[in-house]
Amino acid sequence: MKNITLDNYVVIFEDKLDFLIEFIAEKGYSSVFILTDTQTEQLCKPLLNLPDAISIEIPEGETFKNLDTCQEVWEMLLKCGADRKSLLINLGGGVIGDMGGFIASCYMRGFDFIQVPTTLLSQVDASVGGKLAIDFKYAKNLIGLFKDPVLVFIHDKFLQTLPEQQYLNGWAEIFKHALIADKQLWNEIKHLSNLRQVNIQDIVFKNVAIKSEVVRTDPFESGRRKILNFGHTIGHAVEALSLKNDEHPLLHGEAVVIGMICEAFLSHKYGTLHEDELEEIVQVLRQHYSGYPLNKLPFSDIWNFMRMDKKNNKGTVLACLLDSIGKASWDHEIAEEQLKEAVHFYIQTFR
Ligand SMILES: NC(=O)c1ccc[n+]([C@@H]2O[C@H](COP(=O)([O-])OP(=O)(O)OC[C@H]3O[C@@H](n4cnc5c(N)ncnc54)[C@H](O)[C@@H]3O)[C@@H](O)[C@H]2O)c1
Ligand SMILES: [Zn+2]
Repeated sequence: MKNITLDNYVVIFEDKLDFLIEFIAEKGYSSVFILTDTQTEQLCKPLLNLPDAISIEIPEGETFKNLDTCQEVWEMLLKCGADRKSLLINLGGGVIGDMGGFIASCYMRGFDFIQVPTTLLSQVDASVGGKLAIDFKYAKNLIGLFKDPVLVFIHDKFLQTLPEQQYLNGWAEIFKHALIADKQLWNEIKHLSNLRQVNIQDIVFKNVAIKSEVVRTDPFESGRRKILNFGHTIGHAVEALSLKNDEHPLLHGEAVVIGMICEAFLSHKYGTLHEDELEEIVQVLRQHYSGYPLNKLPFSDIWNFMRMDKKNNKGTVLACLLDSIGKASWDHEIAEEQLKEAVHFYIQTFR
């Protein structure tokens, strides 16, 4: 069994799926609940052999990551007699993990929860780091808290049913982790032409190790943890606008790829990232992700959205930039003119 230990919990890899049964039995919980969405109820729950657990299924998708859904789940918990000695297993992607953790942390001032991430994105990113949240009034993750699970249980078997687009979505965060903190990992993955033909368990392990190391040193994002936001300052704005404007909106990771290309450009033009490294980053990301018509989003909307980001300070737009591949720094101020240049660079790149 491989594992990574954080301050309050352990991330377990590559164990038999029965591991959870033993873990739960040892803890002696008063009742066990599993939160699933329509997909993971069908595709993932049968892999976990927990017949005594009470299932709570919610509709899948980001649009249900809100207070209405929480209220329904809290009602269900209450009806089924959940108490402070209960356990909630969050079986799903980042939506289930973020919202399930939030639900468990607020109910009766908090009871234990376990994250069982079933998307690549949630395995390499969302399930580790203690950030829990729901969306509110069109703002993503506006209402939430930091709280750790008692366990994160990661198994690659869940990924077998993941659609290609969701798989690539998770890879965006893998590329990000390599770019900000691990040049060796970047060198390992940059030549891959088929992202399915890798030992994904090993890649996930390396990514959780990177994220764990970063959050361990700065759990509440006062400094270094901000490097995890590389690609997200511009990416989040593009994601939100795509959600508003597009019939088939960009997934989070797809928007982050756009953000990474733009922010890598700024890292070169206004920082120390070497031109060869910028070219390499663009070439690798272009190989796996198609271009997005960024020119159809009103530039002023992108800029205004970035100014509203909760990670800013006193109205300035702050971003993480790459010093070089594998090394990042944070709190770089971005001006409107620079964003314009970055958007122009992206559009030229995919012309
Ligand atoms: N807490 C954090 O630090 C953090 C970090 C990154 C992202 N997030 C959050 O994570 C969410 C995105 O997570 P996501 O990309 O996992 O989205 P998601 O949870 O919506 O899952 C994506 C889709 O995949 C389906 N799915 C899940 N597991 C599956 C499986 N094994 N096989 C087939 N289909 C499966 C889901 O039903 C859903 O339709 C966002 O809400 C984002 O804000 C949180
Ligand atoms: Zn992200």
